[in-house]
Amino acid sequence: MSRLLIRDLAQLASPAGRTAPLRGSALADLDWIDDGYILCDGAEITAVGRMRELGPLAGDVEELHARGLSAIPGLVDCHTHPAFAGDRVDEFSLRAAGASYEELHAAGGGILSTVEATRAAGEEGLVRAVARHRDWMLRAGTTTFEGKSGYGLDRKTELASLRAISAAGGIPTWLGAHAVPPEHADADAYLDFVLGDVLSDASQLADAADIFLERGAFDATQARRYLAACAAAGLALRLHGDQFTEAGAIPLAIELGARSVDHLEATGEVGIAMLAASDVMGVLLPASALFLGRPMPPARALVDAGAAIALATDFNPGSAFCESLPLVCSLAATQLKLSPAEALAACTVNAAYVLGRADTHGRIAPGYRADIVLLDAPDWRYLAYHLGGSVVSKVVKGGVPL
Ligand code: NIG
Ligand code: FE
Repeated sequence: MSRLLIRDLAQLASPAGRTAPLRGSALADLDWIDDGYILCDGAEITAVGRMRELGPLAGDVEELHARGLSAIPGLVDCHTHPAFAGDRVDEFSLRAAGASYEELHAAGGGILSTVEATRAAGEEGLVRAVARHRDWMLRAGTTTFEGKSGYGLDRKTELASLRAISAAGGIPTWLGAHAVPPEHADADAYLDFVLGDVLSDASQLADAADIFLERGAFDATQARRYLAACAAAGLALRLHGDQFTEAGAIPLAIELGARSVDHLEATGEVGIAMLAASDVMGVLLPASALFLGRPMPPARALVDAGAAIALATDFNPGSAFCESLPLVCSLAATQLKLSPAEALAACTVNAAYVLGRADTHGRIAPGYRADIVLLDAPDWRYLAYHLGGSVVSKVVKGGVPL
């Protein structure tokens, strides 16, 4: 098996220890080495240490010289919507002129306009689209991504979306309840259809199910019905909740043992306390809040209350056309008042935990997957500090420098 030595790293930073998720004050704990090396054997990290402690290596080893660079774990994006065709640049311009996201959605634009374009793309078009979006993410340092369906909302396009996400190496989530498409009378009739005709095949293709629980989309009763059926089919549960209003997403997530509630821009004190006392991850999407000009989620209050949080891009054509987790880390530090170390844990180990992969992904330590990002900076905190900069110098995925 091929071996890779990443040597002479100015710095190397990884969330501390081996447990997951990290919550409250533990989010800020880092294992950190100056003048370090990482040794990979095939797709796995086998040793990490200081250069002066590196003994002679027998046999063939490819060397990657990283003088002046720093290393962090490959980034994990646990919430993206990459399976779409077309764009929403016209809507973006309308929003810039004052139209609101919810108004456009209610008028049949928004998500439903992407549904039309996505249905027309066909499976091959979707495979190309997801691969293209995956490459954008990879260039920004994302080595593991979750991808949601949700722009098909018919049997054929939902299943094709899930297959396209897997084909691109993503971890598929069935967002079968994203919006109600025009051919169904209402949300209940649409749920009759997806649970009857799509769930059994979707559950074979996806790891998790997700729903948009919000006024104008699905309510808590409908979400309970959809998610309970998905859980019974073996899917892990996620929810889009508290984006514009508190409509019961946090209590429902706790009741059903969901992996996460995502968004939380509208979450108040009671919701913060409930989430912090639970095992449900709060997934924060500050690029979406920024893109829509909405309030930022209460990240600091959540962490101070002891919650487990993750950060993700929410990459999608309507509310967050942004694939960059480094930019999300900058927003976390400047808008959410998270430290760079908290932000790093939130988009590595904790994001991997949401995806059920924290034993192997999200850390630089022996036994973890050799997914590593080299930053073009002598201090790893440039990850958050270099706002919108091209901070990623090189990505190593599965022990292979790309
Ligand atoms: O997470 N809020 C619902 N879904 C996506 C946006 C989808 C879209 O606008 O196309 C989100 O923000
Ligand atoms: Fe989303």
